[in-house]
Amino acid sequence: MVNLLVLAPRKKSISTDMLISAAKRMFKRVDFVPLREVSLEVSDKFGVLHDEISLLDYDYVLPRIDSKHASFGYHIIKMLDFFDVKKPYPAESILIAHNKFATIFEAKKNGVPVPRTIYTFSQKSANETIHRMSFPVVVKLVSSFGGKGVLFVEGETAARSVFKTMDVLKQDLLIEDYIENPGEDIRGIVAGDEIVGSFKRVARKGEKRSNFFLGGKPKEYTLTEEEKEICFKAAEAVKSKIVAVDMIQSKEGPKVIEVNLNPGIKAMAQTETGKDVAKKIVRFCHNETKR
Ligand SMILES: Nc1ncnc2c1ncn2[C@@H]1O[C@H](COP(=O)(O)OP(=O)(O)O)[C@@H](O)[C@H]1O
Ligand SMILES: [Mg+2]
Repeated sequence: MVNLLVLAPRKKSISTDMLISAAKRMFKRVDFVPLREVSLEVSDKFGVLHDEISLLDYDYVLPRIDSKHASFGYHIIKMLDFFDVKKPYPAESILIAHNKFATIFEAKKNGVPVPRTIYTFSQKSANETIHRMSFPVVVKLVSSFGGKGVLFVEGETAARSVFKTMDVLKQDLLIEDYIENPGEDIRGIVAGDEIVGSFKRVARKGEKRSNFFLGGKPKEYTLTEEEKEICFKAAEAVKSKIVAVDMIQSKEGPKVIEVNLNPGIKAMAQTETGKDVAKKIVRFCHNETKR
């Protein structure tokens, strides 16, 4: 009889709750432990503990590590790696997926189409890129989420003033080619060698970013074979068996803009093409325990 540990922030997201409910119908036991309540011990023995109890005896661990917990979460996963505990990804995935530059770099190396991207940390180096860009460009904070750190910059004057502000804030930046799109992007969720859900996000009128946080709406969508293949390669690039891959359908084909280790599934589950996503993800976890 198998048991599952879910490691997530104390205030669980709706997606995490959905996964836990689905898991309770499949696993004998499902325990939830808030990331911050874990302690790691290095002494004559090593330990991953909660309430003095070892967390090493679970058949599978499903982490949901948000950006606030990325550093501590990395060390938890690193220790679980050391003890060969089954889970969707090793610690290295956190370093890749929680940094948009690392994601784009690893993705491109693995043959995944991505927008041309330049990573800079100063006004000087950002300004130097301007003559190589064709406007509009997208400027992003390297570890933002929810569309909050994403700016669309129409021309050189605006770009220079953005770079100046970011320099004052000592912020490193991604400068990306803008991929033409009608305010839509698509997401595919990978669990192992299966696409367990897909949909389209349509941005609110007058908004270029399709994030739900900014009023985006879900729509049914089935991925093409090409898009599926790209999702599998993107998962491989971040070294995780469970991921959400966000793509934009450009004139030159699909391009990946983001890979997320914690698939948001709430909106997807409301569509026909994503309705069983929670069940399929936990079924994958359950099957992994038999390997
Ligand atoms: N290079 C790009 N070209 C066109 N639109 C983009 C590009 N990058 C991001 N976007 C739009 O902005 C949204 C947010 O960008 P993303 O990189 O996913 O950041 P976040 O992690 O904040 O969601 C995307 O969902 C997409 O709608
Ligand atoms: Mg996004």
